Amino acid sequence: MSIIYNEASKMFSLYAKDTLYALAVVDEGYLSHVYYGKTVPDSDLTYLLRLDEGPFYPSKNRRETASFMDCQPFEYPCYGTGDYRESCLMVMDKDGMSACDLRYVSHKIYKGKPKLEGMPATFAEENEAETLEIIMLDKHLGMEAVLVYTVFEELNAITRSVRITNKGSDPFKLTRVLSMCVDFETDKFDMITLNGSWARERALERARLHCGKQSVDSARGESSHQSNPFFALVSPNADEDMGEAYGFNFVYSGNFFAQAEVTQFERTRAVMGINPLDFAWLLESGETFTAPEVVMVYSANGIGDMSRTFHDLYRKHLIRGEYKNKRRPVLINNWEATYFDFDTDKLISIAKEASKLGIEMLVMDDGWFGHRSSDDSSLGDWFVNENKLKGGLKYLVDEVNKLGMKFGIWFEPEMISPDSDLYRAHPDWAIQIPGRVSTQSRAQFVLDYSRKEVRDHVYGMLRKILDNANIEYIKWDMNRQLTEVGSTVLPKDRQRELWHRYVLGVYDLQERLTTDYPHILLENCSGGGARFDPAMLYYSPQIWTSDDTDAVERLKIQYGTSICYPPSAMGAHVSDCPNHTVGRVTPFETRGYVAMVGTFGYELDVTRIPQEDRDAIPGQIEMFNKFNPLVRNGDQYRIGNVNEDNTWDAWMFVAKDKSEAMLTVVQVLARPNYKSRNVKLKGLDPKAMYRNEETGVVLSGEALMNCGMNFQFWGDFRGKIVHLVRV
Ligand code: GLA
Repeated sequence: MSIIYNEASKMFSLYAKDTLYALAVVDEGYLSHVYYGKTVPDSDLTYLLRLDEGPFYPSKNRRETASFMDCQPFEYPCYGTGDYRESCLMVMDKDGMSACDLRYVSHKIYKGKPKLEGMPATFAEENEAETLEIIMLDKHLGMEAVLVYTVFEELNAITRSVRITNKGSDPFKLTRVLSMCVDFETDKFDMITLNGSWARERALERARLHCGKQSVDSARGESSHQSNPFFALVSPNADEDMGEAYGFNFVYSGNFFAQAEVTQFERTRAVMGINPLDFAWLLESGETFTAPEVVMVYSANGIGDMSRTFHDLYRKHLIRGEYKNKRRPVLINNWEATYFDFDTDKLISIAKEASKLGIEMLVMDDGWFGHRSSDDSSLGDWFVNENKLKGGLKYLVDEVNKLGMKFGIWFEPEMISPDSDLYRAHPDWAIQIPGRVSTQSRAQFVLDYSRKEVRDHVYGMLRKILDNANIEYIKWDMNRQLTEVGSTVLPKDRQRELWHRYVLGVYDLQERLTTDYPHILLENCSGGGARFDPAMLYYSPQIWTSDDTDAVERLKIQYGTSICYPPSAMGAHVSDCPNHTVGRVTPFETRGYVAMVGTFGYELDVTRIPQEDRDAIPGQIEMFNKFNPLVRNGDQYRIGNVNEDNTWDAWMFVAKDKSEAMLTVVQVLARPNYKSRNVKLKGLDPKAMYRNEETGVVLSGEALMNCGMNFQFWGDFRGKIVHLVRV
């Protein structure tokens, strides 16, 4: 049994593999957080709450409840009743008052994991997970909160979400509903976050916690390039292989808020949820609001182990669909090859050459619809521009299919260009504040996806395209952030719901799309990697990682992304040089090594690249096919860290049964007067013998991990892949 309730101590013990998470009902029905960390046998841990120390416990000292409120570790703290730390819940009641106060009513424990209505979430079979629901009540408001915890039996993972229902007769507004709070005993943590910008997403940052609040967030309407909805608290000595790590990841694609707060008592409150900024949700009597899911992963064995748990969880319990466990077709995308300047002949010429080299799918990127020939028109006009695609889409797709290749297409379904038929017909469909000039970004506005008729209309256009030709892949892009967030149809007391309703609208359409077209491989994208979040993984088994395709920049981006997302879900392409984002020239071979640990494909004009690069493609594809099962199913071990030492990088993928491994080593900058670099391997079976498939040399796992292997490179940006097989 994974979840145990002890009647005597009123403590809940949630066991997830080697993790224990404990909480307890205390005096007057408060729900306190007891412990989160390495598992300990079932025992009464409520002594950790120190309820016998000091005079502050309500039953001991009624006149001093405030001190109790401000130091007790709470599971789901409420605003306005004496807990001055960050709260999870805040309301505005019918009189404009904001305090709330939840007390325990009852609980239930059951097998499996419930769905989150209309929202993405991890899932599990009955025998894989167990769920605890704790029902809490604010009597004054008639507000019920159900705290939902699911533990995964085989993984050190626990998920949380919250459902709030108005059980009273008067309406109230939720002005803050976070999904998770953990009150830690200590403030001795480093905080890891993944931050950046366009073309340099998810750069890892690590800093010691200090008194006060340290947060990351997005208020842009998407999870964002700037900060990822992830943070980890790790012990100061933690590295890839040792120390404690607690990772938190929000299964959400809109505005988020994640914070660690060091309190006056040198403890840490960690919270995560929908960004309360500009958020409000009206709950009429009987209505329910569901807060999205937070995934919590604990590791007693370093940051690498935490990452591997996230990877396993997402590969097995989040990603869905036909491609979940399948190798993805090797694609060639025409964006960096042609940008907007293409026609049927150009695309067919690329496909012809690509098919000869073994590339399996042509993806037609932005610019095929309306009268789009630059980025300033036609979003929303999802019909084919027959001036560019002479003979229409079906002709093109058939020709590509005749070459033995699949065909994929780009859409940006959430957007509307002011210069579009759609905008001319429905200017009110754009998100806007009537009477105020709307801010343009990339010459486009955002559609009001809270409106079903808008979604239906866009979906109708998409369907026409999809039903007209044999399309087997979609890149769903989203290229601007939200401003002037107003809807022309929502009533004024529901306008602040638009941020969240918008995200729910996106989920609705992606759910419909993946249900109606289960054979289509979906890749999400947002100006590169601004929506690399777990919610998107629920709909698409891969996400475009970054518009930066330079092999060296990708080392950092893919390193940071792998902190909580599986590399097998990272869209990664070999592109042309000098690289279009940074102007760097790297060997074709190295670009392949870096893209190969993602979904793998090409983004270049294959008819124009040097002959020797073209000649290298069949070999690269063969290599990708060989190693992809390891990347998809194996365990990743990060060895180098380009963020700390930008002269080299290395990583491994090891089969779960340790029978096989791949090691990639990249020398970023050559070092003069330096002998070979020694790289110590990880994750192998120490007692087993491994053969280097290239050299035939056999060494024990022990030797490879303790003594390492030597690598010598000549020149910058050189790399190597080593394949080890157990003998
Ligand atoms: C975004 C994507 C790119 C490309 C362009 C097209 O920037 O990230 O890959 O599709 O849009 O406009």
